[in-house]
Amino acid sequence: MKLTVTNQAPTDSLLLKFYSKFEIPDLGNLSFLGEKGEVWWASTNELWVGLGDSSEITSFRRIVRKLFHQRQDRWPAQVTVDVRGRADIWIENIISGILLGGYQIGLYKTKQSTSTSLYQPGSIIYLLTDRPVNGLQQLAEEIRHTTEVQYQIMDLMNAPGNKKSPRTIASWALTSAKNFGYEVKVLDKGELHEQGFHALLAVNQGSDEEPVLIVGEYTPDRYQHTIALVGKGITFDTGGISVKPSSGMHLMKSDMGGAAAVLGITELAARLKLPVRLISIIPSTENCIDGTSLKPGDVISSYAGKSIEVIDTDAEGRLILADGLSYAVRQFQPDTIIDLATLTGSIIQTLGYSAAGLFSNNSQLAGELIKAGNESGEKVWQLPMWEEFEEELTSDIADVKNFHGKPMAGAIVAAKFLEVFTDKHPSWAHLDIAGMAFGDQDLYPGKAGTSFGIRLLLQYLKNLSQNQ
Ligand code: BES
Ligand code: ZN
Ligand code: ZN
Repeated sequence: MKLTVTNQAPTDSLLLKFYSKFEIPDLGNLSFLGEKGEVWWASTNELWVGLGDSSEITSFRRIVRKLFHQRQDRWPAQVTVDVRGRADIWIENIISGILLGGYQIGLYKTKQSTSTSLYQPGSIIYLLTDRPVNGLQQLAEEIRHTTEVQYQIMDLMNAPGNKKSPRTIASWALTSAKNFGYEVKVLDKGELHEQGFHALLAVNQGSDEEPVLIVGEYTPDRYQHTIALVGKGITFDTGGISVKPSSGMHLMKSDMGGAAAVLGITELAARLKLPVRLISIIPSTENCIDGTSLKPGDVISSYAGKSIEVIDTDAEGRLILADGLSYAVRQFQPDTIIDLATLTGSIIQTLGYSAAGLFSNNSQLAGELIKAGNESGEKVWQLPMWEEFEEELTSDIADVKNFHGKPMAGAIVAAKFLEVFTDKHPSWAHLDIAGMAFGDQDLYPGKAGTSFGIRLLLQYLKNLSQNQ
C-alpha cells in the first residue's frame, strides 16, 4: 500500500471525509450524525465516516481501524482521504487506523482469505491536503514505517510456540539490523555460561531450545541520550514445574510481548533515523518442563551475583529480566533504562486491558512515559514502589526470593524484585504490559498481538529528542 500526498483529489478515487459528532457539515441533511463508525454516501464517489464524540483523538484510530477491518472487502484499491485543515496527530491516527485495519491473523491458513483491493499490493491512499505537498511527506513516511513495523511485530506475537524459538527471534533481529543499518549480536548458550547469565540459563534448563541474549545497538550520527530497553522474550510459558492451568495456556505464546516491542522500536528508530542511541537487550528462552527443569525451592545465581530462591517457576520473567537488566546497566551505562514485560496476571486484575502498569524510581521519567502514553493512545498508569514492599522479597536461605506467595500486590512485588537488579540506576522504569500486548480488544478480542509499546516508545523518543 502506498501513501501519496496530493493537493488535487484524483477524479477516479473514492473520497473519504471523516467527521466527529461536533463537526458534521451543516447541509440541512439529518441522515448523517457523525456517530462512531457511521458511514454515509454523500455522492457516488464521496463517503463520510463518523468518528463519534470522543475528545481523545487517539480513539479515532481504533474506530477507523475497526470499521476498515469489518468492511475489508469493500474498499477499492484507491481512496483519497480529506486531511485538509487537519493537525498532524489527527492525520496520523486516521491514516494508521486505515492501514492497521487490514491486519489478518490467519498466518498459517493454507488458503488466504480473498481480501480486498485496498489491502492488496499496489493500492494507494491519497492524502488530500491544502498544505504544500512536501510538508506532509515526512509524516506520511513515518506513518508507513510505523505501521509496517507493527504488522511484523503482530506476526511475531501471533506465531505459535512451535514456529518461534529464541533462535527465530534472534534471526529476526539479525535480519532487521542488516536491512536497516544497526548492530545486533547474539550470545548463544556457551557465551551465556561463560559470562554468567545464571538466571536466564536456569529458566532454560527444562527446554530443548537454546536460550539467547540478543543485544541490539542503534547509534545515530548525532545524539544526546543513550536509552537501554530490555524486553522479556519467553517464547512459550508453560509455567515450568509450577505448571499453568491448561485452559488459557495456549495464549502464553505471547509471553515475548516485551521483546517484540523492543525489537520493533529499535527497527523503527533506525528506519526513522531518530537522534537517540538505543541499546536493546532481549533475554529469550522457553519456560518448559522436563526432568532437568528448575524446581520450586531451587536456589540459583544471577548475572549480578545475587542468589535467588525460586519459590514459583512460573515467575520466570523476572528471573530472565534480572540478568538482562544487570547486563544493560553494567555493560552500557545508559542514561535511562526501561524494561517491558508481560510480567504478571496481577497487572491485568489491577488495570484490565486499558493501560500498562508503570513502575519507576524517577518521577521525571515516569512523567515522560505517562505523557507519551496519553499522546500515543498506548496508556500507562503508575503504581507505587514503596519501601515496605521490599520485605516481601526476603528469603530465608538466599538473597531474595522470586515470589512472596501471597494473593496481593503481585505486580508491585514483581517490580520490586526487578529493582534489586538495576544496581540502583537513578533512571529506570518497568512497564508491565501483560494486559496490553495480547488480546486485541478491537479486532480480535483475546486472540491477537497488539504491538503495544511501539507507539508509546516512539512518542517517548520523539519527545526526548525534541527537548534536547
Ligand atoms: N507470563 C506470565 C504473566 C501473564 C499472565 C502474562 C497473563 C500475560 C497474561 C508470568 O510469567 C506469570 O506466570 N506470572 C505469574 C507470577 C506468579 C506465579 C508469581 C502470575 O502473574 O500469575
Ligand atoms: Zn510464568
Ligand atoms: Zn511469563
